[in-house]
Amino acid sequence: METLVIGGAGYIGSHVVRALLDAGHRVTVYDNLSSGKEENLFGDATFVRGDILDKVALSACLSEGFGVVVHLAALKAAGESMDLPGKYAENNIAGTINILNAMTNHKVKRLVFSSSAAVYGDPVYQPIDEEHPTEPVNFYGFTKLEIERILAWYDRLKGLRYAALRYFNAAGYDPEGRITGLERNPANLLPVIMEVACGLRDTLRIFGNDYETRDGTGVRDYIHVSDLATAHVQALDYIDRADASLTVNLGSESGVSVAEMLETAREITGRPIPAEIVARRPGDPAELVSTARKAGEILGWRPTSSDVKTLVATSWRIYRRLISP
Ligand code: UD1
Repeated sequence: METLVIGGAGYIGSHVVRALLDAGHRVTVYDNLSSGKEENLFGDATFVRGDILDKVALSACLSEGFGVVVHLAALKAAGESMDLPGKYAENNIAGTINILNAMTNHKVKRLVFSSSAAVYGDPVYQPIDEEHPTEPVNFYGFTKLEIERILAWYDRLKGLRYAALRYFNAAGYDPEGRITGLERNPANLLPVIMEVACGLRDTLRIFGNDYETRDGTGVRDYIHVSDLATAHVQALDYIDRADASLTVNLGSESGVSVAEMLETAREITGRPIPAEIVARRPGDPAELVSTARKAGEILGWRPTSSDVKTLVATSWRIYRRLISP
């Protein structure tokens, strides 16, 4: 199938493109390279440089006869979204509406959308299933929830069939080492640990060790980016085959604490990785763990690479090149 991947040069997007190509799809990537990287592009995919706020370029691209769109282009820094809601509303919400309208105009009726566990907000119970209340606590999560609601209306009114994939914490790199782009100034835990391991940063700041968790540090559900990528291929097949829309969690169903991630990284890298305890980061819940039963039942999706050792080892394989290329 001819597939357009918007945001396909980004960290998750490039893994999705690789999985689609491996599954035999023909792929075009549309990306403005604002956070995506040229080195994340593959020779066997067509590349169009463009912005989702550019309606003319988007419409020209969508006129090429795609069967399905995978949309991963978004701003994703939860903290920044609280300072710059206008920027997040414009890029994430208005940008998605531009995509939906271009798709409608060109009769493309299949969409796989990157949503987030941030739609849930503070957990009321664990593990979090898809029926959990959606009360985002940051504006980024609000943009994702708002888009999900818009998708439901386009399904009703325009016959759009979509999969909204609610990612928990994406981590790791392609186990075969084919994706090498590194994020600039990462804020997420594992890339920060990797930068400390490489000496690009002096120390990991652990945001609080007084949470009610097994070792006092924050617990998250880390899901390998290649497992996420596989789910996109399966979701796209499903919405096409079943002619139905779908909203599912994508998580590993197991919680890993900051201290456990750090300890595993010290073991695998053989580096000391200095760390210090600092104050809690505002807005961070103690623990967020999914149940991904629905994705298992409907898509047949099973994570295979999301154990903590594989997450760290596949990241280290890429990051270590910074010190010994
Ligand atoms: C957040 C968002 C998530 C979004 C993701 C991508 C929420 C609830 N979650 O995840 O939706 O997709 O960012 O950017 O909005 N930590 C440290 N030191 C660090 C960095 C992190 O101790 O330098 C800790 C955090 O306190 C947390 C854990 O590591 O306990 C994971 O943090 P992070 O990687 O930033 O992801 P989330 O905040 O969970």
